[in-house]
Amino acid sequence: MLRVENVTHSFKNGNETTAVLHQIDFSVKKGEMVALLGSSGSGKSTMLNLMAGLMKPTEGHIYIADHDIVKMSENKLSEFRRKHIGFIFQAYELITSLTVRENVELPLVFQSVSPSIRKQKALALLEGVGIPDKADLFPSQLSGGQQQRVSIARSLITEPSVIFADEPTGNLDSKTEEEIINILLNLNKKMKTTFIVVTHELKVAEQMQRIFTLQDGYMITEKQTSSDTELEGGKLIED
Ligand SMILES: Nc1ncnc2c1ncn2[C@@H]1O[C@H](COP(=O)(O)OP(=O)(O)OP(=O)(O)O)[C@@H](O)[C@H]1O
Ligand SMILES: [Mg+2]
Repeated sequence: MLRVENVTHSFKNGNETTAVLHQIDFSVKKGEMVALLGSSGSGKSTMLNLMAGLMKPTEGHIYIADHDIVKMSENKLSEFRRKHIGFIFQAYELITSLTVRENVELPLVFQSVSPSIRKQKALALLEGVGIPDKADLFPSQLSGGQQQRVSIARSLITEPSVIFADEPTGNLDSKTEEEIINILLNLNKKMKTTFIVVTHELKVAEQMQRIFTLQDGYMITEKQTSSDTELEGGKLIED
């Protein structure tokens, strides 16, 4: 589903070049839910933005469903992103002047889907994330956890092949964090959507099927967790 091959990334500021990712290699299977774990500044968001096609790596290849997104032209890439990629941000990024339902529908407006179908899909997804009664409210009338549910529904409406989430619970208290992670886990189970979730919390990462750990721009470990079915005598099998 997703393959990152020998990706290196540097940022240029004037004459200065800072290398932030070094020869990263990993792959994620269709339907998997994995965590990208690491402390602040380790390169998690940079890696996620590269995989979501929001910027191009200095070197290497990134394949999504066998398409090398590094080689794609900007036009083709924006179309590919709209169709195949969903994104959930820490700060929700909802449009304040639109209602909850209109926010969820928005990605389909860009795909010229008819209003009645948009509405029907948006309402079904709001039901799925547990806030069907909030459809006609505005984002400012919702709690943080409810706003994140809206942004999850919005990311799903195009039925993307993969959803990237950058610290989706970073702004939430621990009880709400648990609720949001459970919603993502359930969606992954039910809809078989592939999820890549950035987090700096081990307790969040451990609920995913595998954990990729970044440290100072290097991928240091790849670990299978007990959330995967491969348990033997209660002990974790690492690969
Ligand atoms: N546009 C940029 N220009 C220069 N350096 C950058 C830029 N964006 C990120 N960096 C640097 O790249 C490194 C990795 O940043 P990144 O945002 O990927 O880390 P992160 O793991 O997501 O951290 P956090 O947990 O704090 O969000 C940091 O040292 C950061 O200063
Ligand atoms: Mg980050």
